[in-house]
Amino acid sequence: MFSTGSKLVAALARGMATSARGKERKVAVLGAAGGIGQPLSLLMKMNPAVSQLSLYDVANVKGVAADISHVNTKAVTAGYEGPDALADALKGCDLVIIPAGVPRKPGMTRDDLFKASRAINAGIVKGLVEACGKYCPGAILNIISNPVNSTVPIAAETLKKLGVYDARKVLGVTTLDVVRAKTFYADKLGVDVASVDIPVVGGHAGITILPLFSQATPGHSLKAEDINALTKRTQDGGTEVVLAKAGKGSATLSMAYAAALFADACLRGLNGQVATECAYVESSVEPDVPFFASRVKLSTEGVETIHPVGSLSKYEKDGLDALKPELIASIEKGVQFVQSA
Ligand code: NAD
Ligand code: LMR
Repeated sequence: MFSTGSKLVAALARGMATSARGKERKVAVLGAAGGIGQPLSLLMKMNPAVSQLSLYDVANVKGVAADISHVNTKAVTAGYEGPDALADALKGCDLVIIPAGVPRKPGMTRDDLFKASRAINAGIVKGLVEACGKYCPGAILNIISNPVNSTVPIAAETLKKLGVYDARKVLGVTTLDVVRAKTFYADKLGVDVASVDIPVVGGHAGITILPLFSQATPGHSLKAEDINALTKRTQDGGTEVVLAKAGKGSATLSMAYAAALFADACLRGLNGQVATECAYVESSVEPDVPFFASRVKLSTEGVETIHPVGSLSKYEKDGLDALKPELIASIEKGVQFVQSA
């Protein structure tokens, strides 16, 4: 038992490279009682860079907070339930992670979540980001709620309306795409997944997810059909989980892991350490695509540098051309949602 626990802690420590010696950092998870929110909150409680952890949800969060608060790590943890408690949850936050919203069911695309129940996720994200703009305007936001391709533009427009938008601080979480690409590639090559790195660019839905296996570490001599299969599996990774869960939601545990890695990179950046991850941000690396996922360097003010996609194979160039119309349409839909409100 004990040695299994030690191995778990060591594995988490490998992924989460945070130094415990950073500034005191307050982190909030909005949607903390949900399928992602609960394991993510636990992982944030285990992050030594976090000194205060606010767990907010519209329901059922008090028990989650009481449970997690007993874990013997530094972060002082409190639960906040319902809109009246949101201001207190957010005040003083350095980082706000938002997994609040409805997940997909089999047969739905992420974009269908925009249409479902009168754009419920779009409204949830807009409302929560408004509160962030009022109560912790300098915080870095990690947006997980789908459709990310639209919810990040929604967050940006919402903060613009409040006059507190800083493009460096609004980041869509696409880390799960990178996590999946690494896992599937390592499995195909039969190499240690810890030695693998793969950038994933574009967006976070279907063909807008573009893994760049031509830039993978370690390199490969895979056939075109293998690259095609790996690309499709990465693009359809979310659907694979949605189908396996058969109506009981989408990825929660792998997402919590991915979100915890990404949040840790943001905290390392805030604490002046070098951190580079893929993220979906306001970007000019691809002309006419105002939000785009690519490698970003994180620093004390959020995104410091957005890296261009680099050299692509013909297959990847075609994938990039193909994804742009869908991504642009999703961005416009998000912008419209806020501007017409
Ligand atoms: P879930 O239904 O299990 O949990 C959602 C939680 O949000 C619930 O606890 C609910 O009470 C809460 N919530 C609803 N409205 C809220 C509000 N206004 N304020 C605060 N909390 C609110 O769903 P889940 O499986 O955790 O997924 C959440 C979202 O994350 C979905 O939109 C899903 O599509 C998305 N997701 C994104 C990624 C990604 O890679 N970015 C991966 C997986 C899931
Ligand atoms: C994922 O990639 O797992 C998430 O975006 C959830 C989904 O709907 O697929």
